[in-house]
Amino acid sequence: MKRHVIACIPGDGIGKEVLPAAMAVLKAAGEKCSFSIDVRQFDWSCETYAQTGKMMPDDGLDRLRDHDAIFLGAVGFPGVPDHISLWGLLLPIRREFDQYVNLRPVRLLPGISSPLRDKAPGSIDFWVVRENSEGEYSQIGGRTGLGDDEIVVQQAIFTRRGTDRILHYAFDFARRLDRKHVTSATKSNGLFHSMPFWDERFAAVAAENPDITTDQYHIDILAAQFVMSPERFDVVVGSNLFGDILSDLGPGITGTIAVAPSANLNPERRYPSMFEPVHGSAPDIAGQGIANPIGQIWSGAMMLEHLGEEEAAALVMQAVEAVLVDPELAKTPDLGGKSTTAVFADAVRTKLLEL
Ligand code: NAI
Ligand code: MG
Repeated sequence: MKRHVIACIPGDGIGKEVLPAAMAVLKAAGEKCSFSIDVRQFDWSCETYAQTGKMMPDDGLDRLRDHDAIFLGAVGFPGVPDHISLWGLLLPIRREFDQYVNLRPVRLLPGISSPLRDKAPGSIDFWVVRENSEGEYSQIGGRTGLGDDEIVVQQAIFTRRGTDRILHYAFDFARRLDRKHVTSATKSNGLFHSMPFWDERFAAVAAENPDITTDQYHIDILAAQFVMSPERFDVVVGSNLFGDILSDLGPGITGTIAVAPSANLNPERRYPSMFEPVHGSAPDIAGQGIANPIGQIWSGAMMLEHLGEEEAAALVMQAVEAVLVDPELAKTPDLGGKSTTAVFADAVRTKLLEL
């Protein structure tokens, strides 16, 4: 029987509630499809930081390196500044493990209503491919001068290698999905150097992929298009900053970030990839057992797919969708129901075993 060794980092707040709930669903998928999941638990979190001054131990990355994948809940909690939890755990993992693709599906699930009027389940169905390792998010820059003379410089870094590889990923991914259209997010009218370069590389990579149609929009009008006509998109590729914004706007138009998943991928598989929901640790509802586990479960389905368990991944999503439209099985409060994390996830697990 195939065995997948997974590093689980529940993290903080609702991460500690939704991750175990989702893992039970994934294990049930394993029972059905004849593979096992070997969970290695890492309690790295803001709590660890409060006790040790570190989000993870110095050899943390070495301890993660040999796993088949990393399954993360959420990190961040009041009392620990967000830049500590981010730069102390998430970003080192994404960067050291060269997870340069951030992949997010945007899909309107049945049983969830979109804030956009009259959108039917499935009518919104596309993917955001975000560059995850360079671009606008850099630590290069500085502040100088005093008072009215203060000057701040924040550098963006676009490398040919980094740009080309994310663009190639987007085209290859569109082909794999058989959704042969790629949209590029740009802003070459405002960003004088980086975005004309991005456009040039997009055109060059597009020329190598003549079977795939393309278009490109400035990020401002693209944001408007996400709201006005989301049906038109298949795969949307953007730089780190543009992709970050679009990949929250996407889940926004499909109802709630609580159900949105994401994958941080090292496509060459030299390092483990990391799968995590889009939402954070939700301190406002943490400890109540009412967090919606769908974002974590869907991230788990993406992880199974990455591990080659396509059938299991599809079954997990079928089970989620079946539970969402079953009037007998209540949703969690964020979706207007009265259910709990445990009851909802268990309904998915039961449904999955029946499929
Ligand atoms: P958040 O996503 O934790 O919460 C935003 C709102 O959505 C809250 O009202 C929350 O109750 C609700 N919500 C989120 N997930 C939910 C779920 N599964 N079910 C039901 N309701 C849900 O974002 P916020 O409040 O901005 O950040 C809280 C903490 O999480 C901060 O420390 C932040 O840095 C951290 N964070 C961590 C992320 C990560 O680990 N990747 C991502 C985003 C935020
Ligand atoms: Mg974001």
